[in-house]
Amino acid sequence: MGNPLPLQLPVFSILSRLIEARSGLHYRQAHLERLASALSPRARELGLDSLLDYYYFLRYDPKGGEELDRLVETLVNHETYFFREDQPLRLLVDTFLAPMVEAGARPRVWCAAAASGEEPYTLGMLLGERALLGKVELVATDLSRPLLEHARQGLYGGRALRAVAGTIADRWLEREGTRHRISAALREAIAWRRVNLVDFAEIEALGQFDAILCRNVLIYFGDLTTCRVVDQLTAALKPGGLLLVGASESLTPLGTSLDSVERAGAFFYRKSA
Ligand SMILES: C[S@@+](CC[C@H](N)C(=O)[O-])C[C@H]1O[C@@H](n2cnc3c(N)ncnc32)[C@H](O)[C@@H]1O
Repeated sequence: MGNPLPLQLPVFSILSRLIEARSGLHYRQAHLERLASALSPRARELGLDSLLDYYYFLRYDPKGGEELDRLVETLVNHETYFFREDQPLRLLVDTFLAPMVEAGARPRVWCAAAASGEEPYTLGMLLGERALLGKVELVATDLSRPLLEHARQGLYGGRALRAVAGTIADRWLEREGTRHRISAALREAIAWRRVNLVDFAEIEALGQFDAILCRNVLIYFGDLTTCRVVDQLTAALKPGGLLLVGASESLTPLGTSLDSVERAGAFFYRKSA
């Protein structure tokens, strides 16, 4: 693999801006070494011996856009697992979605950074346990095409499934060798799409939702991008709709038109009715 190629500050600045414009991922100067280590193998693979040349390739070569997508793929954090931060999901189902269905509605829920699918499948399992699967429209999206393909296949190993209770596993998972596949009924209950959260036309095309999950992704964006994305998510919420962010994320310091609502220790952001 070799040592990282040198990355001078001005080159770091233009490269990190290019990456941020494409994906929202924000790199501070303290991340310079990390970025140099991530970019160097890709530059070398293309036969380039400087990161400035790599920048020019990304920016001006006809294949630059494809390469930028491939690069972003190596930079994003894909960590997720079934039943991660499940308490807010249970509350969403029990106190928000179930009453809506009882009142005759078919709520729409969007899982906006679904990674390899563990989060929307968890929500689907919780809905299924209350006989609500199929009565709630589930849309799951991510930036990463390979992760979305993994999600569609629905095949997982023990690490992803480490927090799944036995009774749930028996109902929704089928053993395939050393791994488990999500049952067809659950796989078919979710519509998978590629959506880049910094591409606002793509968000708008999805329509309006009663609830949006955007968890553990805003943390990788800069403040300005986060504010813009949250504005778009707010516009994509129906009046009275809820936005859920990750347990370690908070919109309050940045300011938002959404109301912060606490339910049983979990925080939701609600659009005024
Ligand atoms: C750490 S995972 C979070 C998965 C899940 N939401 C959870 O909380 O477990 C972050 C995901 O955000 C996705 N992501 C990063 N930038 C994105 C963007 N601009 N648009 C859409 N998804 C993005 C990554 O591909 C990755 O799958």
